[in-house]
Amino acid sequence: MFSNALLAWYDKNQRHLPWRLSPSNPYYTWLSEIMLQQTTVATVVPYFYKFVEKWPTVQALAAASLDEILVEWQGLGYYSRARNLHHCAKLLAERFPTTEEELLKLPGIGPYTAAAIASIAFGQKAAAVDGNVVRVLSRYFAIPTVNPVKDVKEKLLPLVPEKRCGDFTQSLMELGALICRPKSPLCSACPLQKECGAYALRRVEEFPLMAPKQKLPTRYATAFILKREDGAILLRKRPPQGLLGGMMEVPTTSWEETPHERKGRRVRHTFTHFHLEVDVCHHKDILAFEGTWVQPQELKNYALPTLMKKILKGE
Ligand code: ADE
Ligand code: SF4
Repeated sequence: MFSNALLAWYDKNQRHLPWRLSPSNPYYTWLSEIMLQQTTVATVVPYFYKFVEKWPTVQALAAASLDEILVEWQGLGYYSRARNLHHCAKLLAERFPTTEEELLKLPGIGPYTAAAIASIAFGQKAAAVDGNVVRVLSRYFAIPTVNPVKDVKEKLLPLVPEKRCGDFTQSLMELGALICRPKSPLCSACPLQKECGAYALRRVEEFPLMAPKQKLPTRYATAFILKREDGAILLRKRPPQGLLGGMMEVPTTSWEETPHERKGRRVRHTFTHFHLEVDVCHHKDILAFEGTWVQPQELKNYALPTLMKKILKGE
């Protein structure tokens, strides 16, 4: 049976990740699932430790300020997750809902995360479909549709066992991460191989079928480093909403679609929807912009996105 084979494989082969030590602690499960959205396990592990050490309960996290959370979140990217985390912690500290339907109403919790928390923390029968799960099941069923999230969810729900729903959810992700990898999956070590449709066709890497990728546009900007005589650097806070909202930045021109002549050191960074090329200049007029003057050794106390760290490198 599908779930028995998978669970037996999981018992032997799972990675011992910190949030798996007490999966029924909903705070750990929620926090790890938010961090793991769009981010790899290897990157998340040290952040997870740092957060639960600093804020051992959801009530402790709810009492933190957004700035404190953003400082600890820096480097994880997709900062709207940190803003939603802060908002959501306040709601969860009052009452932690236990059903997929109620969890789905909370900020930062989409269909995948709601199902993952309901199954892992509360043992409910829910079909959590992330990228790993889409890959495993679209191969297993040789699903002929493009971007088959909906088809995968329909096919997965009847396979969820009565017991150990949370382990079942994690076992599918784990199989996707360790065995049924995007490139060169290890089918010879896979507990699902005998019944796998894509394997039978010898076409495993063709699934999941995907729409052709769009090429990302590039935007261009100039960043200004303003340095006082005592070495302090001018930072300002970005508006609370939008890209990198609430994070700190050095002043930049607007991010334009037309290239300009190169001036100064060039820094490249890729966001979800575009590449950015920034020329870094030193601005002589220290009164040209308003903001906060920060000594270089104090930069670590401010929420600086990776782009700004690249811009400030060597300052
Ligand atoms: N990705 C998302 N959730 C995960 C989990 N619980 N374990 C490993 N990888 C994951
Ligand atoms: Fe994935 Fe291969 Fe297992 Fe099929 S047999 S589920 S393609 S690893």
